[in-house]
Amino acid sequence: MASLLFLLLLLLLPLSLLIALSLIVRPRPTRVPIKGRHVFISGGSSGIGLSLAHQAASAGASRVSILARGAAKLDEARASIRLATGIDVSAFSADVRDFDAVKVAVDAAGPIDVLICNHGVFVPQELERQELEEVRFMVDVNLMGTFNLIKAALPAMKESRPERGPGSIAIMSSQAGQVGIYGYTAYSASKFALRGLGEALQQEVISDGIHVSLIFPPDTETPGLVEENKRRPEITKILAGHSSAMQADDVARKALNGIKSGTFIVPCNFDGFMLAIATAGLSPQRSFIMAFAEVFGAGFMRLVGLFFQWTWYGLIEKWHAEQNSKYQLLVLVPENKFCMLC
Ligand SMILES: NC(=O)c1ccc[n+]([C@@H]2O[C@H](COP(=O)([O-])OP(=O)(O)OC[C@H]3O[C@@H](n4cnc5c(N)ncnc54)[C@H](OP(=O)(O)O)[C@@H]3O)[C@@H](O)[C@H]2O)c1
Repeated sequence: MASLLFLLLLLLLPLSLLIALSLIVRPRPTRVPIKGRHVFISGGSSGIGLSLAHQAASAGASRVSILARGAAKLDEARASIRLATGIDVSAFSADVRDFDAVKVAVDAAGPIDVLICNHGVFVPQELERQELEEVRFMVDVNLMGTFNLIKAALPAMKESRPERGPGSIAIMSSQAGQVGIYGYTAYSASKFALRGLGEALQQEVISDGIHVSLIFPPDTETPGLVEENKRRPEITKILAGHSSAMQADDVARKALNGIKSGTFIVPCNFDGFMLAIATAGLSPQRSFIMAFAEVFGAGFMRLVGLFFQWTWYGLIEKWHAEQNSKYQLLVLVPENKFCMLC
């Protein structure tokens, strides 16, 4: 009898927590349809953005607009989407750093239902070795470019909500926007900043029926990643481990599903799901199931996080020790006529 009572109590506690969470999670659950809507994607000419444009067109969006700088890649993207889906995409050539150019494109595209700020640049390097010019470039494109797009699109998005239904502003961050990693000081800073933007913006636009989603992909097979890998510091590669990159189509599918359910933090794989729990903080949460996982997982995930930091700092220490001994060896063997200091 006592054990039955204990079992009941054990079930009652999580059950009442689930009920309480279903009452308090905010913003309230919603759906943002893609079918019949106008989806506007920055960086839609390549990688994840191109996959998003394909999938939005396949999902029955009434209009898909893509924006990027390179006109040739935009034309290629348009042609490939038309070939695959029969849908004619509108393409706009503009640099997201140029507000006036972005405004012209957004106005020409017409009222947007789903704005996906996906454009991004990533050039990894230790801050000490990276030129400030490159730091500014990443912050300007990734952060200011997102501000420019949202500022350009928001007035018409707000105005058209009553007759067009719920809208979405989705922002492409990165797992490097959830945890800082060696070699990503500038990139991480630009992507962490997007979370602050998104959290505050969601409160500002919720009463207009606009739902913000932040997407956090891991390494993803794209032309951007190929370029990034050429510059990735050796220790960054060691820290990243041997986990394989996701496919752009899979990331785009997760992103669109997140947008459709109005999810604020959209992870793309299992690691991302764990990271979402570890970094939930004070972020908005619509799903009481996810809220339950966050409440119960918080302590455990902190432990896992501390384990990761222990591993990473150990690897960094070991790598530096190896570099130092290599360096000393080169200095100590002058007869090889191969001296770093000569
Ligand atoms: N691939 C990954 O491993 C990975 C991981 C996490 C997060 N992400 C994020 O996912 C997003 C897409 O990345 P991706 O790998 O698909 O990159 P990608 O293949 O290099 O594509 C980037 C897109 O952004 C556009 N773009 C870049 N700078 C721009 C600017 N100043 N103005 C307008 N458009 C610009 C590019 O076109 P133009 O160059 O012609 O302008 C291109 O269409 C980025 O925000 C990135 O940070 C990527």
